[in-house]
Amino acid sequence: MQTIEQLINARVSVNHFQAGRPLATETIHQLVALATRAPTAFNMQNWRFIAVQSAEAKARLLQVANGQVKVVEASVSFIVCGKLAGYQQLPEALSASVQARIMPAQVAASWADLASTSHRHDPALQRDEAFRSASLACMTLMLAAEGMGLSSCPISGFDADQLRTAFELEPTELPVMIISVGYPASGNWPQKLRKPVEEVLSLV
Ligand SMILES: Cc1cc2nc3c(=O)[nH]c(=O)nc-3n(C[C@H](O)[C@H](O)[C@H](O)COP(=O)(O)O)c2cc1C
Repeated sequence: MQTIEQLINARVSVNHFQAGRPLATETIHQLVALATRAPTAFNMQNWRFIAVQSAEAKARLLQVANGQVKVVEASVSFIVCGKLAGYQQLPEALSASVQARIMPAQVAASWADLASTSHRHDPALQRDEAFRSASLACMTLMLAAEGMGLSSCPISGFDADQLRTAFELEPTELPVMIISVGYPASGNWPQKLRKPVEEVLSLV
């Protein structure tokens, strides 16, 4: 079992995957189950994951992902969508935690009110929240994959409008990122170097 520090240090954005190595449906489930352990504002869980794994769906994804062959070679490419108007589903999203007695019903109701008041008339905030939620899920998904001995690549190089059409997304679903997951082939780079911490950290 690797530590979280080892997984973070080991993860790289893989460019070449071994083609023809599908993942079991259970593994795909497990990856998404772990990704959804990421936090969201108010526990909104305003996301959807489309696991692109069939040859036909991969070909559709390739068309809208600037011809990036890794979406075909990877075992599975997840289209991670953030959802607008997540506040509307908040009572439903919180109900399991209320039933499990993790949070009192009146707190859930007040969160739903607060989220509705702040988000209802603020499309920019809804979009920010969709991107925040989906991005946290993406990073969690990549670390989950790493922990399962798989590699990944985050991808924003796609045409969002074409992707929406090709995968029949709802108007409220924003395709935030594609996360390709699979087995690395040869020829991938090591993790690229990062700026020194002193350059990016302000201690105040
Ligand atoms: C939001 C985002 C979008 C990215 N889009 C692409 C992409 O379209 N194609 C690609 O090959 N890599 C893509 N990458 C991978 C980055 O190039 C990579 O994470 C960065 O160069 C650092 O490399 P490393 O993760 O291996 O250290 C993307 C990464 C992020 C976070």
